[in-house]
Amino acid sequence: MKLLYAQEEIARHVKELGAQISRDYQDQELILLVVLKGSMLFAADLCREITAPVTLEFIRVSSYGSGTTSSGEIDFKVPLQCDIAGKHVLIVEDIIDTGLTLKVLHAYLRNQQPQSLKCCTLIDKKKYRQVDFEADYVGITMEDGFIIGYGLDYNERFRNLAGIYLLDPTNLPFQGEA
Ligand code: XMP
Ligand code: MG
Repeated sequence: MKLLYAQEEIARHVKELGAQISRDYQDQELILLVVLKGSMLFAADLCREITAPVTLEFIRVSSYGSGTTSSGEIDFKVPLQCDIAGKHVLIVEDIIDTGLTLKVLHAYLRNQQPQSLKCCTLIDKKKYRQVDFEADYVGITMEDGFIIGYGLDYNERFRNLAGIYLLDPTNLPFQGEA
């Protein structure tokens, strides 16, 4: 594995995103809708950089089975458990790749008539975009490659790494175990 973004660099991006979001929402109440599981660490850090009054809600959707390629299907594993009608909602996502997950999730949430609906992603991976979804707030833009760490997993592992690493598909860590 190769280190792509060190802990300090990630923290700088998170701080900057928090400042932007704080400026945009100011004293408006904001629901941070955390997309589990990958966004958990990002959301934990991001919410502490936001000065607007926030509440935290969680949803779990899955577009990836095991491995590193998109299935193109979205499964609502933990549905939304609050009423977002008339509220300001910011989706907190770890990574946008094909854009399929966010496109479907955005449409689903929009249907529930929030007052506003935006999306913040830590990582925007551009190369394999299949639908025209763009986040309102983007931390890091990258072209290609499967990454792990800082909440991102490979077969549920490595979420606890402090930095973000590029996974070499020809030399997978702990081969045979994962
Ligand atoms: P789509 O393709 O729907 O994918 O935009 C978004 C979801 O796919 C997962 N994903 C990754 N997970 N490393 C990961 O650990 C990656 O490089 C990666 N690329 C996509 C992720 O769960 C995201 O929510
Ligand atoms: Mg994942």
